[in-house]
Formats: sequence, C-alpha cells, structure tokens
Amino acid sequence: MSNRRPYVGGNWKMHGELAAAVELTEDVAAAIGDAVQAVDVTLFPPFPYLQAVGHALRQAGIGLGGQDCSPHLEGAHTGQTSPAMIADLGGSVALIGHSERRNELGEPDALIAAKTRAALAASLQPVVCVGETMGEREAGNALQVVERQVRAALEGLTSDQVGTAVVAYEPVWAIGTGITATPDDAQSAHSMIRSLLGELYDAELADSVRIIYGGSVKAANAAELFSAPDVDGGLIGGASLKVDEFASICRAAVSA
Ligand code: PGA
Repeated sequence: MSNRRPYVGGNWKMHGELAAAVELTEDVAAAIGDAVQAVDVTLFPPFPYLQAVGHALRQAGIGLGGQDCSPHLEGAHTGQTSPAMIADLGGSVALIGHSERRNELGEPDALIAAKTRAALAASLQPVVCVGETMGEREAGNALQVVERQVRAALEGLTSDQVGTAVVAYEPVWAIGTGITATPDDAQSAHSMIRSLLGELYDAELADSVRIIYGGSVKAANAAELFSAPDVDGGLIGGASLKVDEFASICRAAVSA
C-alpha cells in the first residue's frame, strides 16, 4: 500500500435475511469503530436490504453500495435496479462486473462498460471487478484477460471519471474457494493494472486509483496481501459476514 487511502468492501452476496442484515450492520459498525477515519469501508448487502442497512449505518462513516446496477437509467427493464434507485436509498457505490455475474449470467465486457457508465452518470462510485479463471491462468493468459477486462470497462471514460472508480482484482479461482492468491500473484496483476491506467490516462491518475484484491481474504491473510505495494485493500465475500473477521481485515488495511 502507498499513501492511497485504503478501501475495504464487504460483499454479502445473496446471504442473510432482513433482521440478520440489520444486526450484522450494527455489529460491524461497532466493531470497526474509529478505524473508519483511516479506511473507506463499503457494505454491499442484497438489494432488498439496502434501505434497512443504510438506515442501520447512519453516522457510522461506512458506505453503502449495490451489488450490481442496471446499464439503463430508467424505463421498461423488468427486474433491474437503476443506479439512481441505489442512490435514492442512500447508496453511493455500485459493484460492477463481479465474476459471479460474468459467469453465472454471462455478462459480457460491453455490458459491464455500460453499467460503469450508468453508475457514473448517477454519481455512484463504480467498483469494477476483473479477474481471470483458473483455465485462463493455466494457459498463461491471466494478465491478458485482466488487461482486456480493464480496457473494456473503462473505454471512453474521462480521467475524472476513472479517478472516482475503484478496480477490484478478483481471480475467479480464489473466490469462495479458500485458495488465496499469493501477495506476489496479486502484486503482478495490480501493478499491470496500474501501468495500464498510466498508459490510458497519466501517471498521476494511475497513482491515485485504488486497486483492491478479492478472493478468500480473511483476517489471517489480509495483512500480508495488503502489504503488497499496489494492493490498496480488499473486496471481501465470506469473511464480510463475520463481524470480527471483517473488522480485523479493515484494521489490517489501516496498518498496511
Ligand atoms: P470471497 O469472495 O472472499 O468469499 O472469496 C470475494 C468476492 O467474491 O468478492
């Protein structure tokens, strides 16, 4: 990590129920406490719980985000949630391009780019997820795949827009598997992404964008991962549902 402000997201995926979501929010806010002065923390609850979680977060200094958003700003799009609706419920962030959506729902790069533009149009911060599958890694294509995903997601965006975004490198083989990338694996992808930002925009922008790692991050490995120079925090799935684990990960991001 450098002098970039660390960033930790808690991606709750499709877990929980309303009462448990509110309780988890309150407990996480209490456990993180003053650490929020030194780390940006965002919770991504399931959509139906967004408003209740936002309410429970009030005053805690923790951000609220949607796990996805529509590429459309409004209209006849059954089942979709617009970025403006997320904002209306108190959200300020949208997770975009998570591999579970890319793979389970077949979301292509162009759709992810459209969602990123829509989030920005509604003044949401996009957290854009990229990452290779095990097959792509074994074929020696990991960095090319990630580069293609980053280029596609950011296509046509201004440097001011990219400056508000966060990139999450999440190798698919590490998500929910208990297999974590080594700090060196993470660093090589993160430094490639940062160089690419420098090439597409400029060195100052590249130096300022937070690039976070996701994939089986837990309290026991967070400090080591966050010590890599281009790893600016994490996107946390399973461990974000455990209060003490998640709070320790946030504190590890502060100390890195
Ligand atoms: P995991 O998920 O921490 O459970 O591996 C990370 C993610 O999908 O964002």
